[in-house]
Formats: sequence, structure tokens, C-alpha cells
Amino acid sequence: MDKNIKQIRDSFPILKRKINDSPLIYLDNAATAQIPVSVSKKMMDFDETYRANVHRGVHTLGMWATKYYESVRKKVKDFIHAKSEREIVFTSGCTDSLNLVANTYGEQNIQAGDEIVVSIMEHHSNLLPWQQLAMRKHVKLKFIELDQEQKLDLADAKKKITPKTKIVAVAQVSNVLGCINPIKELAQLAHQNNAVIVVDGAQAVGHFDVNVQELEADFYAFSGHKMFGPDGIGVLYGRKKLLEKMPPYRLGGEMIANVTREGATWAPVPQKFEAGTPNIEGVIGLEGAIDFIEHVGLDKIRQHEQDLIDYVFPKIQKIAGLTFYGPQNISERSSVISFNMQGIHPHDLATALDLEGIEVRAGHHCAQPLMETLGVESTVRASFAIYNTQEEADKLLSALVEIKEFFQNELR
Ligand code: ALA
Repeated sequence: MDKNIKQIRDSFPILKRKINDSPLIYLDNAATAQIPVSVSKKMMDFDETYRANVHRGVHTLGMWATKYYESVRKKVKDFIHAKSEREIVFTSGCTDSLNLVANTYGEQNIQAGDEIVVSIMEHHSNLLPWQQLAMRKHVKLKFIELDQEQKLDLADAKKKITPKTKIVAVAQVSNVLGCINPIKELAQLAHQNNAVIVVDGAQAVGHFDVNVQELEADFYAFSGHKMFGPDGIGVLYGRKKLLEKMPPYRLGGEMIANVTREGATWAPVPQKFEAGTPNIEGVIGLEGAIDFIEHVGLDKIRQHEQDLIDYVFPKIQKIAGLTFYGPQNISERSSVISFNMQGIHPHDLATALDLEGIEVRAGHHCAQPLMETLGVESTVRASFAIYNTQEEADKLLSALVEIKEFFQNELR
């Protein structure tokens, strides 16, 4: 094992545990990545040293906590290359960020005759808010389909995005197909038609460098827990000019400028969107996650994940009876591999892998319209992270062969 990877693994205590008497092989990183000690320690230090509410008290702890919290906003801004920290809204996760945009920008800007365009591979969190909005506003929701290689069909996007389009909502990386979508091209198509683009970055951030300005994204959403941070914290990036025109999403403390008996005015962005006490520990944990990623280096993370996929992909494809989903070209892929094994239900396959300590996800992956398009109800999904090793990949491959033989013998 690479010495650096060994060092990285050592900072994730959970990786030392056993599952069903076998060493844990954690391959469900697309659902939730594990947390390094540095992240848990940062949150604990905050609670033991700085804990206070933010943007409220004038006491020392309150001011420290506020300063700390706001410094993380700046860190996130630098991490995704936004123009201003005012463009960074802390939310409870990617789902919350996407709902925020649909229920504020969408509610305000969609009118009869408009159209909303999503891709068929969207996670339900980047589909349902738009589907419900389209239903409320009686407008058309259009789907960009897959091409022959099971990646986003850009030619179809060119047909679907028209002057009627007001919002294009697409994931940068599919949580099932693993394909990396051409966000910049889609953003340019949206902008040529005076539409905005909303990007679900849940499976992208923390895997490679994301530059929201370069992507020309209008909104970009992601979660902390998929990038080695804690649960319950997420980010919405939005262009300042757009955020400023949007109505607030939730109402309550700390999001106002002034309140009278008759009405209220709102605080400047991003506070307008952060009603109530925020997830302060979550924000501190997010700082820890960014520090971890920057310490390892996004180039190294991308290279390591690609090396693993490069290693696994041709071998897994040689296992007879396995069907893969998503593009074959590895440079267009993230570290997610979805597949099915002929004659074995995905849940049985995932359970059999679990018996060997290998944790993968099985199911529809919150992408049922995509499953329907692929002609399946569910798949098995293995998703790799910086701490996974070639040895673990070998164990996955040999376990798949053993399980296949076992089921074949049983069925004989
Ligand atoms: N969205 C997460 C996944 O794809 C939970 O597994």
C-alpha cells in the first residue's frame, strides 16, 4: 500500500474496525464519506472552547464564535472559487440548498409558458423540487436524455434548452452513472437562452477542483457529509445579484433588517437565507473537511480515485453476467461504479458483500426515473474515496466472483 494512503487511512479510525469478522472495506462513499480525526477534533474543540451562538451576543464567546463561523464562509468561497463570501449560504445539506432555490428563485421567476429542464439522471433532490414547482406553476418539465454511452446527451440538451427555458438543473456528477457532466456547456446554453443553471455538486465537491466561476454556474449546491465533513451541513452558492433579488426561504431570527407590527425588511445576503441558529458545529466541521482535502490535495484525490477506477473497471467488466451502467471512458467518470449481476437481486448481492465486510449501496439510489430509463429497478453501487486501496478493490473483485459462483451453484 502507498505510504501516503496508509497515513491517510490512519486518520480515519473507523477504517480499523471489522464488519462480520472481516476488515471493513468501505465503498459507500457516494452516500456518506467517513470523517477524519481532525474533523471530529475541530468540532469538539469548538464545543469545549468557543461554543456560543453566532451573530447575536456582544460577549467574548459570541464574538469569537461569529468570527470563526464567518471565517469558514470565506474558506468555502475560496475552496469553490466564488467571487464573494456573500455568495455562500450555509444550509442543512445539498437537498436543502436545492429546495431553497426552487422555492425562492423558482417560485419568483417561473410563469405560465416557461419551461424547466433537468436531466434524466437527476437524484430526486434535484428533480422533485423542480417537478413540484412545474406542477404548481403549470409549466413543462423537460428531461435531457442519455446518449448511447449512457452519459448526458449534449445534442439533446441543445434541443431541450430553448428560449422558453427559465431554469436548467443538472448534477455535475451522476450518483449512479458516475459520469461527469459538461456543466460549462450547459451553463452557456442556458445563458444564451436567458435561463439560469442550478448545479447539484454533491458528488463532485471533494473529488476534484470545482470552480463555480469557471463553470459559469448560477447556483451550485453541495453537502458536507460527502466530503469528509459532518452531516446536516451544506452549502448553496448563488451569484450575488440573483441571491439579492430572491425572497427569503425560511423566516425567523437573524434574517431580518427590521421588524415592525406591520411587516419586515430582510438582512443582506447571505444572512437573509440563514434564519434561526445555524448548524455552527457543522460549519466548523466543514472547515475541518476543507483543511483535510487541501492538505491531501485535490489533484492527488482525483488521481488516486482515477487510478482505482482504472484498475477496477476493466477487471469488473470481465466478470461474466455483470452489466455496467454509465460511460466506458474513464476520464469522463468519477469514482462511482454501478452494476448488476445476472440472476442476483442487487440487495442480495450487497448483503453477500456485507458478509465479507464490503459496504456498498444497493437500491434505486434516489434516481427512479433513471432506473426506469436503464430498464432496471435497482443497481449495486461501489463508490471509492482517497482512503480506498487496490487491495480493497481486489477483495471486491474476488468477492464478486465468489458470490456469483455461490449463487450459480445454489440455483443449479
Ligand atoms: N445521495 C446519496 C447517494 O447517492 C445518499 O447515495
